[in-house]
Amino acid sequence: MGMIILREVTVRYEDGTVALDNVNLTVEKSEFAFVVGPTGAGKSSLFKVLIREIVPSHGTVFVAGYDLTRMKPSQAPYLRRLVGTVFQDILLLPERTVWENVAFALRATGVASSEDKREVPRALAMVDLLDKAKAFPWQLSGGEKQKVALARALVINPLILLADEPTGNLDSQSSREVMELLLRVNRQGTTVLMATHDPFLVGSYRKRVIELNSGKIVRDYMPGVS
Ligand SMILES: Nc1ncnc2c1ncn2[C@@H]1O[C@H](COP(=O)(O)OP(=O)(O)OP(=O)(O)O)[C@@H](O)[C@H]1O
Ligand SMILES: [Mg+2]
Repeated sequence: MGMIILREVTVRYEDGTVALDNVNLTVEKSEFAFVVGPTGAGKSSLFKVLIREIVPSHGTVFVAGYDLTRMKPSQAPYLRRLVGTVFQDILLLPERTVWENVAFALRATGVASSEDKREVPRALAMVDLLDKAKAFPWQLSGGEKQKVALARALVINPLILLADEPTGNLDSQSSREVMELLLRVNRQGTTVLMATHDPFLVGSYRKRVIELNSGKIVRDYMPGVS
């Protein structure tokens, strides 16, 4: 069974905007896929469906075996433990240090604070930001904030990582570093979906490309085995 399965999923916002239009999609465990498409295509809406921030108006969604359309609110924490997210509008806690921001993700998934001194440095080392552990978000560059958000998503050892434009504000060197990190996490078994506008980045890696346009999947390219 796929790690992520969407069957005939339609998302219609309150104002009538159709963000996803009868989408069928299966992503297997340990797959890496880019999600591309123009502004407004439905990429972020897709990710929000996968963490049940949005419940579709029609269709079924399975994530790691859970049927999200039937999930009880009491089961939501399980999903939070399985899915790490980096969203477009990065929200770091402004009054908290980098360390505390990352530790906060562990608290949110019920991990005891005694684990912090092992898990937080591990996650910060992954994004090469150990030296900024005591910094506050306002003391960081845009790219560094993005990396903190990534550390926060990875600290829970997620089964699935959803990265929405994680290289959006980064120069090409940092973009490449973030990509290498995502690929490394993927090689360790995490299923990764990465939304991006960067065709150069997509073209540089032989990975699945799911293209959305007006809420529909218009292309699903799988590179052959090489
Ligand atoms: N809360 C909302 N209420 C109404 N419409 C929304 C809402 N959120 C998004 N939309 C609309 O849904 C469509 C899909 O938006 P979405 O954010 O999923 O696109 P996207 O592919 O992520 O775009 P971008 O590349 O700009 O991030 C757009 O037409 C958008 O205006
Ligand atoms: Mg978006």
